[in-house]
Amino acid sequence: MRMTVIGTGYLGATHAACMAELGHEVLGVDVDENKIEALKNSKVPFYEPGLPEVLERNIDAGRLDFTTDYDEVAAFANVHFIGVGTPQQRGSYAADTRYVEAVIDDLVPKLQGHHVILGKSTVPVGTAAALQERADKLVQDGASVEIAWNPEFLREGYAVKDTIEPDRIVLGVRGASATHEESRAEEVAREVYATPLENDTPFIVTDLQTAELVKVSANAFLATKISFINAVSEVCENVGADVTQLADAIGYDDRIGRKFLGAGLGFGGGCLPKDIRAFMARAGEVGADQALTFLREVDAINMRRRQRVIDLAREELGSLIGRNITVLGAAFKPNSDDVRDSPALAVAGQLSLAGASVRVYDPQGMDNARKVFPTLDYATSLEDALNGAELVILATEWQEFKQMDPVWAAGLVDKQLLIDGRNVLDPQTWQAAGWQLRALGRTLG
Ligand code: UGA
Repeated sequence: MRMTVIGTGYLGATHAACMAELGHEVLGVDVDENKIEALKNSKVPFYEPGLPEVLERNIDAGRLDFTTDYDEVAAFANVHFIGVGTPQQRGSYAADTRYVEAVIDDLVPKLQGHHVILGKSTVPVGTAAALQERADKLVQDGASVEIAWNPEFLREGYAVKDTIEPDRIVLGVRGASATHEESRAEEVAREVYATPLENDTPFIVTDLQTAELVKVSANAFLATKISFINAVSEVCENVGADVTQLADAIGYDDRIGRKFLGAGLGFGGGCLPKDIRAFMARAGEVGADQALTFLREVDAINMRRRQRVIDLAREELGSLIGRNITVLGAAFKPNSDDVRDSPALAVAGQLSLAGASVRVYDPQGMDNARKVFPTLDYATSLEDALNGAELVILATEWQEFKQMDPVWAAGLVDKQLLIDGRNVLDPQTWQAAGWQLRALGRTLG
């Protein structure tokens, strides 16, 4: 099947490569010439395990190509995916849908024949219907465009697997009306996703607004789950309880489940923070003002965890001015080089503003971190990062940090003091090697 994927960021580049991997002929498009040039040369402009191999294999097989030219896109296929970004608007909680709208404006006037556009971007509820109206005004005589919504649930770090073997496929289609012919989106989606559907992947076909809401509800739920355990973590700190044991214990109840009960520095990245804010903003616009106000608290709990680490550093060191602090981690989570709204970098930045001399190390996120916080000191290796530190903060749980030998690390630092911001180190092993340990939601002797 032939298809195009518009937008080649995290979502789009992954989707394009993985659709080719499923055997389709795919053309990816973006307005960013540098990105397209890199992709054409089989280079992924971000870190995502396994994606470079999928990209290269499919370019070499002739199933995947990239362009900046919308005329080519219009001529290439009758099925198009939208994977452009919907960032938070400046000065507001709402999502900025201008890039999704620009795709419709650029593409639709060029289309001939019948086309189905499947939106994958995370959008405020009601966007797909508005885009259908927009497309209807722009479409040429004799041509038709159907907008459907097919939200994406991939996680960074597992993007290839999540796209090729999704745990569910959701499709929102428009209702029948006098102005529109019968929907073809389901038939198209069944062909696109024939492989996962053969493997019994649940397929939920619904209306446009439900599909849009499924996506933001899923992310809001995940964010709420993390903030729930982090709120409990605050109580644990005050009474000397252990949040990790508590999470294990409640997680055995399969109605609750242990996943996403990892207490620590909380969530960041390009999705969860922005999506809960956009969801709240949209709820207000559609007259459900009270419905999601709890998400404000979810956001606030999350932000307080970052402050808690700064407070712990002050408790241990007194004044932060001139103190050598090493922050392990810059990416918002391991297996990613994404530093958008990264808790690790937020902590590093705040410590630096408080006068500390902050050194950061991340296995993949250094280049992106340097762009956001050029004034921090960036180490060349874990060893370099630990050298002379008076305090080490584990802020992103990379394998390299989890596996660190406490005896080896003790030989490098000035002071054996560590804050485990992700609750991933074994306190006994570290304490036995002479380290003083602090953690979030746990009192460690
Ligand atoms: C998230 C969702 O998990 C995906 O399903 C969704 O498709 C994606 O957003 C999106 O909307 O595009 P992602 O942002 O890649 O995926 O990251 P997650 O794995 O969800 O982690 C988010 C943050 O929560 C990270 O900062 C992580 O460190 C933190 N986290 C996660 C915790 O603090 N505790 C946990 O127990 C789990």
